[in-house]
Amino acid sequence: MLEVEERRPDLEPIETAAREDLAALQLERMRWSVRHAYENVKFYKDSFDAADVHPDDLQSLADLAKFPFTTKQDLRDNYPFGMFAVPEEDICRIHASSGTTGKPTVVGYTKKDIETWAGVVARSIRAAGGKPGDKVHIAYGYGLFTGGLGAHYGAEALGCTVIPMSGGMTERQVRLIEDFKPEIIMVTPSYMLSILDEYRKEGLDPRKSSIKIGIFGAEPWTNSMREEIEQAFDMHAVDIYGLSEVMGPGVAQECVETKDGLHIWEDHFYPEIIDPVTGEVLPDGSEGELVFTTLTKEGLPIIRYRTRDLTRLMPGTARKMRRMEKITGRSDDMMIVRGVNVFPTQIEEQMLRCDGLSPHYQIQIARKGRMDQLTVNVEAAAHATSDADRLASAKELAVHVKNNIGISVGVDVGLPNSIERSQGKATRVIDLRPKED
Ligand code: DLL
Repeated sequence: MLEVEERRPDLEPIETAAREDLAALQLERMRWSVRHAYENVKFYKDSFDAADVHPDDLQSLADLAKFPFTTKQDLRDNYPFGMFAVPEEDICRIHASSGTTGKPTVVGYTKKDIETWAGVVARSIRAAGGKPGDKVHIAYGYGLFTGGLGAHYGAEALGCTVIPMSGGMTERQVRLIEDFKPEIIMVTPSYMLSILDEYRKEGLDPRKSSIKIGIFGAEPWTNSMREEIEQAFDMHAVDIYGLSEVMGPGVAQECVETKDGLHIWEDHFYPEIIDPVTGEVLPDGSEGELVFTTLTKEGLPIIRYRTRDLTRLMPGTARKMRRMEKITGRSDDMMIVRGVNVFPTQIEEQMLRCDGLSPHYQIQIARKGRMDQLTVNVEAAAHATSDADRLASAKELAVHVKNNIGISVGVDVGLPNSIERSQGKATRVIDLRPKED
């Protein structure tokens, strides 16, 4: 029996279990998962053998560090079904992420995996403040992307009424929000901004909309963006994290009562933070690359998957499980300008301080001589579209970036609607540098 430290009858006992009980469960599950991978996936057999480790070597949670990492390239090399650990007929769903280059990464789920996934998403929606009977408007894309169906099954599992909108057709999104009156919306934060624009375009007051909670994820977004959206809609905006290789949405979720980072559902996903260069495991609190090992997944167990996402682990607050800090960026998105590491989110933060700018933006990196140069393309806010206003806003943003991030950037303030809108994940960085780099 798990010792429940705090009585929260609305939560699953494991959410409030003591750390020792959680750790014992993690070890038992991790030993199963590592063995399941080794015995059923040739890739793991080969990679463990090459590293001279065996599932029997896993005697404590810290022993996980002896095992080799898994990368996106490993999934690509085993395209399409080489990473599956069960016979193909036991896989009941496949998802894939497109990726901008190379083959897609393909993931498979057994019936039990789908139930586990629905369970963690239901837990996430509840942590966000949702409850059975709430209507949930899902504007994450349905299809091979895990966002739509992942959210869908979780909302149903919690006992919500699901509105499976998918992304796109922004006018229709607004019409159905107004007509069906959902309490919750699940969508990428960048697409929420497009929905906001549509509200304004139609002369509707977003603060009067029925939406009380937004569960935003699939891309990095800042606390400044949170404030912007919360103010605009008079709602709570909380962060949901996940990735297809590990499960999909619902690997970690921010609690509405604290909004202080995302609780990792550690009974299913075991996190580590590593130094991205040396691969060494770093103590909690240090910033580094997030690595996940699945503890219960049957179809595609994943051992020490390098996410490329940068964050740090922090102790639990609203739940006993550890939190990860809001993701500041992926190592892939990091730009280096004259030796300074810069993430798009840092620029987003400065942008949101400028009254004359809207939060729609794209950053171009070009090479001028030996130097990388950044140009921020951003839209003017509706009330500041004159040439003089746009020039002043451009100057203001450049000064904020220089003073707070320490780099010089070009800023081009365009008219409203000049930046291409995302209907899912936004493309924040356009790299115009010659390919050989
Ligand atoms: O984006 C799953 C998802 C769907 C999560 C809906 C949340 C909501 P992938 O397409 O495999 O899966 O992309 C995973 O997206 O490694 C992060 O870089 C990024 N990402 C996901 N959630 C967040 C977040 C889905 N809350 C990749 N904050 C991850 C920052 C996020 N980045």
